Amino acid sequence: MIHLAPEELEFTEITIKDLPLYSYDYDADFPPEGRALKEAIEAADGILFVSPEYNRSIPGALKNAIDWGSRPWGTNSFARKPTGIIGASPGSIGTAVMQSSMRSVLSFLDAPQLNAPEAYITYKAEVFGDDGEVKDGSTAKFLGHYMDEYAAFVARVLAANAPGHIGDLEPDAAKLSR
Ligand SMILES: Cc1cc2nc3c(=O)[nH]c(=O)nc-3n(C[C@H](O)[C@H](O)[C@H](O)COP(=O)(O)O)c2cc1C
Repeated sequence: MIHLAPEELEFTEITIKDLPLYSYDYDADFPPEGRALKEAIEAADGILFVSPEYNRSIPGALKNAIDWGSRPWGTNSFARKPTGIIGASPGSIGTAVMQSSMRSVLSFLDAPQLNAPEAYITYKAEVFGDDGEVKDGSTAKFLGHYMDEYAAFVARVLAANAPGHIGDLEPDAAKLSR
């Protein structure tokens, strides 16, 4: 997906494997792993979630990372952050149920989401090489289109979030300006 993305996008993988299990008890003093996660989310212009589906839901490790990013209360790192959700699995529904669960969670966290295109990818060995290369032309074309749309969506949300934009005004002022 990185290779198929527009050139203006740069990617950084946000590590989640070293996070302890989130507990409210950490809120008074976040450990370095929790701080690093929040800083990485806040430094990014957008977050692209790439995940498998576990037992028809979000894998526990990913949900744990999201819980860390959302806390302590009042410091939700996902607020207004543009997001995309994509996943692949050997099953024919290609992580659709995980993605649906993610949309509920991200909505609650006030994270705008790329709504279309949706991307439910069925993993087949003949489509993907050992190094992650997309060998199938139509899948590569679709994923390139997805990344183009993701880049455009991130740019739109960043513009809407910019200081002075209509969405940034007090509600009464915004109504008057329309
Ligand atoms: C605990 C567990 C639950 C799974 N549940 C689902 C599922 O609900 N739907 C699905 O399509 N695949 C499911 N799978 C298969 C995963 O999609 C598949 O193993 C995937 O390649 C795992 O990716 P990962 O190695 O990045 O974790 C499950 C796998 C595991 C280990």
